[in-house]
Amino acid sequence: MSGQAPPGLADLASLADPAVIADPYPLLAWFREASPFAELDGALVVFGRYEECSRILRDPRASSERDRSRLVPPELQAQAQERTRSFLSLDPPDHTRLRRLVAKAFTPRVVATLAPRITRVTNDLLAAAQASGDHQLELVSQLAYPLPVRIISELLGVPPEDPARFAGWSAKLAHSVQPSFGAFDPAELADAEQAGLEFGEYFTELIGARRSQPGDDLLTKLIRAEDAGQRLTVDELIATCVLLLVAGHETTVGLIANAMLALLRNPGQLAALAAEPRLAADAVEETLRYDPPVQLTGRVARGGLTIGAIEPPDGAVLLLLLAATGRDPAVFARPDTFDIRRGAREHLAFAAGPHFCLGAPLARLEASIALEAIARRVAGPGLAEPVAYKPNFNLRGPQHMVVTFDEILPRA
Ligand code: HEM
Repeated sequence: MSGQAPPGLADLASLADPAVIADPYPLLAWFREASPFAELDGALVVFGRYEECSRILRDPRASSERDRSRLVPPELQAQAQERTRSFLSLDPPDHTRLRRLVAKAFTPRVVATLAPRITRVTNDLLAAAQASGDHQLELVSQLAYPLPVRIISELLGVPPEDPARFAGWSAKLAHSVQPSFGAFDPAELADAEQAGLEFGEYFTELIGARRSQPGDDLLTKLIRAEDAGQRLTVDELIATCVLLLVAGHETTVGLIANAMLALLRNPGQLAALAAEPRLAADAVEETLRYDPPVQLTGRVARGGLTIGAIEPPDGAVLLLLLAATGRDPAVFARPDTFDIRRGAREHLAFAAGPHFCLGAPLARLEASIALEAIARRVAGPGLAEPVAYKPNFNLRGPQHMVVTFDEILPRA
């Protein structure tokens, strides 16, 4: 790789190879060294260095309106313009208006009030694993997935039995946010479109129910905002709910699983956490740098944007390899070493600038509580290799990961 010809489109596409998904970091290191590099006659520019990505994420000339890219065929662009997009894919002023409506529910102070509930759900899930009596935990389905799904569903006011209905839609929408590198798969697009419609119908029904029977949840608050001052339309309300649910479903699961995987593969670090479970928050931060659940994101260049010697044309896609930035040796010493005492919080795992992850305090809290509970209570943890990965190379993480143990200790 390194020292050979510069990377090309086929190398980027190989990020989707199952063998690469299990460990994309050597490939990402090569892309970072070659960064920035342009493909498709300049319509796609790839960035992997920390400094470049950090700057682009904060630059208003780097748009989040991904449908406007030159790589999207005009007929799909026209379709996309008719759809109401979530604020993830909007620029100011619409982005600012919509984000502000939900931001209050996700501040660190408000999120901290959820700690007792997150702890209770974690304990219930561990108790269920202990009760099964087989001394093993399939970490993804028994803890890492149900914990964040339950919490975001409760926060929004989604009935507890419903997440099973929309797990498939959520995975399809998550798959559709992967870059296509210029080649659009019509079947995949149709799948995502259908999932979006079904999610829309689901929320239309739920909004109707909440209107007649208000609750103490975020959905009821958003409905009131809509009723009160036309600050968001029904379609914007639905798009916001879908964004929060999908983000709550497809990301924190990867953070908890990636953290446990790194700890189990680095026994010294696992022992340090077991000796001092309060290091859980530091282990979460180091995982976000070392093996982030969101590997990349994109922006679309507006005129006048220059990065170093590169002047991407209007409409060019800027592919930002967030996972490569966490191991940039210009910023992090010994970047390939997992060290929970490193204290590096300046990673870009939650992006930066106006679209900085709204759910970061919630994801951090959920993952810290889960890791601390495991460190305190799961005695003799071991990893049953091999670990199976999801096919998604962007929202990347284990699909199936068995942790063996001697016993789960009762709560202190
Ligand atoms: C470890 C878990 C998570 C990671 C790594 C993560 C990562 C990210 C990243 C990288 C972005 C920026 C995307 C971009 O601008 O291109 C983002 C945005 C966002 N995230 Fe998260 N996220 C996580 C968990 C969550 C959770 C639990 C929620 C749910 C509440 C959430 C809600 C959002 C929202 C609403 C945005 C859009 C913000 C905006 O456009 O202003 N995230 N996240």
